[in-house]
Amino acid sequence: MKMKKIMAAVLAGAMAVSMCGCGDSKAAATTSAAAGSSTAAAASTAAASTAAGEGTSKAIADGVLTVGTNAEFPPFEYVDDNGDPDGFDIALIKAIGEKMGVKVEVQNMEFDSLVSSIGNKIDVAIAGMTITDERKETVDFSDPYYEALQYVIVPSGSAIKSAADLSGKNIGTQLGTTGDLIVQDLASKDSTVTDSPYDTAALAVQDLLNGKIDCVIIDKNPAEVLSAQYTGKLSALDGKAFDFGAEDYAIAMPKGDTALQTQINKALADLKADGTFDALVKQYIEGSDSAAASDSTAASTSAAASTAAETTTAAK
Ligand code: ARG
Repeated sequence: MKMKKIMAAVLAGAMAVSMCGCGDSKAAATTSAAAGSSTAAAASTAAASTAAGEGTSKAIADGVLTVGTNAEFPPFEYVDDNGDPDGFDIALIKAIGEKMGVKVEVQNMEFDSLVSSIGNKIDVAIAGMTITDERKETVDFSDPYYEALQYVIVPSGSAIKSAADLSGKNIGTQLGTTGDLIVQDLASKDSTVTDSPYDTAALAVQDLLNGKIDCVIIDKNPAEVLSAQYTGKLSALDGKAFDFGAEDYAIAMPKGDTALQTQINKALADLKADGTFDALVKQYIEGSDSAAASDSTAASTSAAASTAAETTTAAK
């Protein structure tokens, strides 16, 4: 079961991240693009052509693109069985790196630290990150590569069904995300709304299961993966019913580095044109059974995740 495997990987990853904080670039370096074979094949085909960028970016003068992510966001990024970040975004940025002729090193860190780390700890960030005006004040973005929407995870049978029902609710989010911003905004207009930001969406979901919060607002695909882990207990509600607007994911990079932006956009366009991008969407998002990690290994990796992992096992 794909969802369970992804979730198990996520649980293991949650520990890995919380232990190491802002990752060590060496640990996460360039492992294979994916556990599955189809992506690796697609990626190496794509690598045959090397992009010649106009101008040079000093960010990649060393031949290495250092990429920050927060591997707590399946299916876009999670930590696999070997402790390495994997997922759609990771495979995508590795394919982009191959097109650009640079080595890709992935650093796993807290989502909330990504934007401020660009240009110092990391060159770019790929993390299911939504283009927002506020972030654009600090960083530039690539062309958008995926459209998203916030979803609402509720306990089965919850009375929460639409925007008005969020009044009076304690809402879990991931710190620094657009979901967090949406709930902050709600709370500023309705003092009965509480925003409860967590380091990861998985931790928010744990508190939802414990009854400490009323719902969790997080992007659609992670919401579906997380709630599918607790079939019968949780459901993910379409954000349209809550009047949430569409969001675009893009790669964030240093402001004003147009050489880098041009190269990344060109690589992205090439990957769309040659079918690699669609293959990655199928593999990771629309999902063949590809996403790393066996349940048992992931469960034993993480003591903190044991409660959740037991639930997983029980739910089989
Ligand atoms: N799309 C949302 C945002 O940009 C959430 C992204 C969270 N990503 C992650 N890797 N944890 O704020």
